[in-house]
Amino acid sequence: MTMSKSMPVTGHKPLLVLKIGGSMIDELESIFLKSVEELRDRYQFVIVHGAGPSISSELKERKIDAPFIHGLRRTTKPAMEVVETVLGEVKNRELADRFTEEVMKAVGIRGCDGVISAEFLDFSSYGYVGGTPRIETGLLKEPLERSFLPVVSPLARTGNGEIVNVNADTAAAGIAKALKADKLIFVTDVPGVMEGDRIIPHLSSADIRQLIEKETIHGGMIPKVRAAEEALSETLREAVIVSGKEPMSVNGEWKGTFITKEEKGMFL
Ligand SMILES: Nc1ncnc2c1ncn2[C@@H]1O[C@H](COP(=O)(O)OP(=O)(O)O)[C@@H](O)[C@H]1O
Ligand SMILES: [Mg+2]
Repeated sequence: MTMSKSMPVTGHKPLLVLKIGGSMIDELESIFLKSVEELRDRYQFVIVHGAGPSISSELKERKIDAPFIHGLRRTTKPAMEVVETVLGEVKNRELADRFTEEVMKAVGIRGCDGVISAEFLDFSSYGYVGGTPRIETGLLKEPLERSFLPVVSPLARTGNGEIVNVNADTAAAGIAKALKADKLIFVTDVPGVMEGDRIIPHLSSADIRQLIEKETIHGGMIPKVRAAEEALSETLREAVIVSGKEPMSVNGEWKGTFITKEEKGMFL
């Protein structure tokens, strides 16, 4: 059988990339994990995670200054040591263990160990922060083929072998693209993109532009919707923003906000 171009690189099942936000990593509800487990027979999964709030509290504890500039953490060498430990070790292992206990056997992978490469975004302004990530899929396909769940921390390696921190939303989008994933799912601490009390069910590129302009979409939601848009393609036709406190789908019906490629505004 010839493999169609739209099939995921690993063959058989369609693949879902789940980005678990740092805001949610310590608060994932078992009912959410149960909904992932229920989809195990139909899909393969790759997890990418953040650790923002845990990194911030550890930096504070150690009195290391790392201010945010244009939404990115200025990461000096001592700050990067904290990022490597908290993101690449502690939180990565905790999350892999949680998935192993409640969903399926998982394997923690630091992105910088052969999966993600990136160059310094702008060393003098941001320090150890990587720009556009490039993805090598081999070390993700291996566990997938053995029915393990890869849990990836968004650390990247530069051409010179240094480790840099990459935005987790962007890294997840890069991985979804490289693996020709079916869906990119952002698991966060809100039930979707909200307008007041209402969950917006669907967003097109035109809607996103307008909602950012109106500041309905702001802060941490901006990199998420931008990464979603950037990742969409002929194969990856939709991204979803869901809460980690509820099931992400019920009887085949997805929760949250869908982002698709249509230029035409369907919401506004
Ligand atoms: N329109 C919006 N709808 C929902 N959340 C929004 C919106 N605009 C901004 N946000 C903010 O985005 C946050 C999620 O992004 P972030 O804190 O970076 O989470 P994560 O750790 O998942 O990346 C929400 O908690 C909320 O404060
Ligand atoms: Mg965020």
